[in-house]
Amino acid sequence: MADSKPFSVVIVGGGLVGSLQAIFCAKRGWKVDVYEARHDPRNDKTVSGRSINLALSVRGISALKAAGVEKHILENMIPMKGRLIHSKDGKLSSQPYGIFGECINSVDRMAMNKHLLDSAEMFPNVTLHFNHELLQCDLDSSHATFKKKDGTNLSVTASLVIGADGVHSRTRQQLMRKARIDFSQKYIDHAWVELTIPPTANGEYAMDAHHLHIWPRQTFMMIALPNLDKSFTVTLFMPQSKFDAIATEEDLKTFFRDTFPDSIPHMGEKLLVQEYFKNTKGSLAQIKCRPYHYQDKVVIIGDAAHAMVPFYGQGMNCGMEDCLVLEENLTTHLGPVGSASSRNPNPVHVSAALDAYSAQRNPDVEAMCDLAMYNYVEMRSSVTKAGYLFRKTVEGWLHRLFPTTVIPLYTMVSFSRIPYSEALRRWKRQSSWFDTASLLGKTAVVASVSAAVFALVVGRPVVAFKK
Ligand SMILES: Cc1cc2nc3c(=O)[nH]c(=O)nc-3n(C[C@H](O)[C@H](O)[C@H](O)COP(=O)(O)OP(=O)(O)OC[C@H]3O[C@@H](n4cnc5c(N)ncnc54)[C@H](O)[C@@H]3O)c2cc1C
Ligand SMILES: *[C@@H]1O[C@H](CO)[C@@H](O)[C@H](O)[C@H]1NC(C)=O
Ligand SMILES: *[C@@H]1O[C@H](CO)[C@@H](O)[C@H](O)[C@H]1NC(C)=O
Ligand SMILES: *[C@@H]1O[C@H](CO)[C@@H](O)[C@H](O)[C@H]1NC(C)=O
Repeated sequence: MADSKPFSVVIVGGGLVGSLQAIFCAKRGWKVDVYEARHDPRNDKTVSGRSINLALSVRGISALKAAGVEKHILENMIPMKGRLIHSKDGKLSSQPYGIFGECINSVDRMAMNKHLLDSAEMFPNVTLHFNHELLQCDLDSSHATFKKKDGTNLSVTASLVIGADGVHSRTRQQLMRKARIDFSQKYIDHAWVELTIPPTANGEYAMDAHHLHIWPRQTFMMIALPNLDKSFTVTLFMPQSKFDAIATEEDLKTFFRDTFPDSIPHMGEKLLVQEYFKNTKGSLAQIKCRPYHYQDKVVIIGDAAHAMVPFYGQGMNCGMEDCLVLEENLTTHLGPVGSASSRNPNPVHVSAALDAYSAQRNPDVEAMCDLAMYNYVEMRSSVTKAGYLFRKTVEGWLHRLFPTTVIPLYTMVSFSRIPYSEALRRWKRQSSWFDTASLLGKTAVVASVSAAVFALVVGRPVVAFKK
């Protein structure tokens, strides 16, 4: 068979996940066109995306390694070995993430995106098109229409359309018009705003750079991650009503003095006021849907397929792992990268691979969405409670003794590729053991206290009687 018409993919969205997916597709020898609504971020410094830095962990790193693009990123990230909890009175306490010194890593979103775009563009089969916004996609023919910067339309056809166009995905919207997609969207009441802790006067980090800083305040929290330029990006998460209550500079200063006093000298009130009022207040939603594909024509990945609240630092990691799982499923059904059957696949096999992908990935992604919701409570409140700390300590010991039997949840999610749904199941099982154990513990305490009381109250006359 002559490769007269090569297998071609259109990737919608050149963000973190779309640009990585382009590399995997190029390695299969497919013709790849990436269409990105925004302009090329490599041409300027002022593209304001969401969140300036993010936490990269094992799942994201595994995907970057499989694509062969990890080196530059690993060299330019800042390892964070634990949480550093800031209490109201300025006390600091460190809570390591893993008992074997495992770290999550602060990376610059824009730098990583640029690196992935550069890496994708090195493949002769990849063409990047900026200022192309997807308007419409006809699923049966894989015919996509993009609006260009000059207002004209461009229509293209491809063997497969991959939607990596983020939380407000137009590809998903088009998929939902045609296929039978279950869909749910849930906004949480909390919003966020980004602030900055600049380097100190002598050009150093104002706080420890190898921690993720948290100011947990029960119903809300502030966090900070280090940047390579010695600054920290600070994110304040709180209920919308609390944002609404801060109307003036004085309100803001009072709120910070009462709530996060130790952060003020680092930020400086002037910068705080300036950034707080200027910066966008982001909203937070969770989106679940399934399946993620239509026949052999369209599939969605990354935030387009699943948006989660950011409290586990897994959104991007999960999106990058999507690429990896899709890769494995394509290999199963099409044959390995480099084979003729993979370079020029039979549509029936593509369809089977996408079926497998949707079926396999959905329960994992939804488990992660649920864990991300749960972790907000852990970060803003549980980390300050004795019961939580006790369990964390005991789990740590058990993990050291039985490294594969008892694994703390955070370790399973951030430092392993155990499927998210299995992590959730194992955590629930471990929780029930733990509850039983502490119940037994309490029962033992109650029993011995009762025995002592009995001995005192009832036992004395008995003893007296014996005399
Ligand atoms: C405050 C905050 C903190 C976070 N922290 C972390 C963290 O620490 N760790 C982590 O793993 N994740 C984190 N996340 C999640 C992470 O940002 C996302 O999961 C990740 O950006 C998803 O990548 P994506 O490529 O799927 O989507 P995006 O990054 O949103 O990229 C989508 C791209 O598609 C383009 N696009 C959109 N519509 C169209 C269209 N119609 N046509 C063409 N192009 C289009 C967009 O311009 C964009 O470039 C955080 C999120 C937030 C909000
Ligand atoms: C894609 O790249 C491979 C090598 O990486 C090459 O053999 C093939 O001809 C290219 N295909 C197209 C459509 O450019
Ligand atoms: C571009 O395509 C959209 C959607 O198909 C259509 O509504 C619009 O009229 C087109 N615009 C132009 C200038 O052709
Ligand atoms: C799809 O990939 C997942 C994750 O690697 C794997 O568990 C599953 O068995 C794969 N399914 C097929 C059919 O390849």
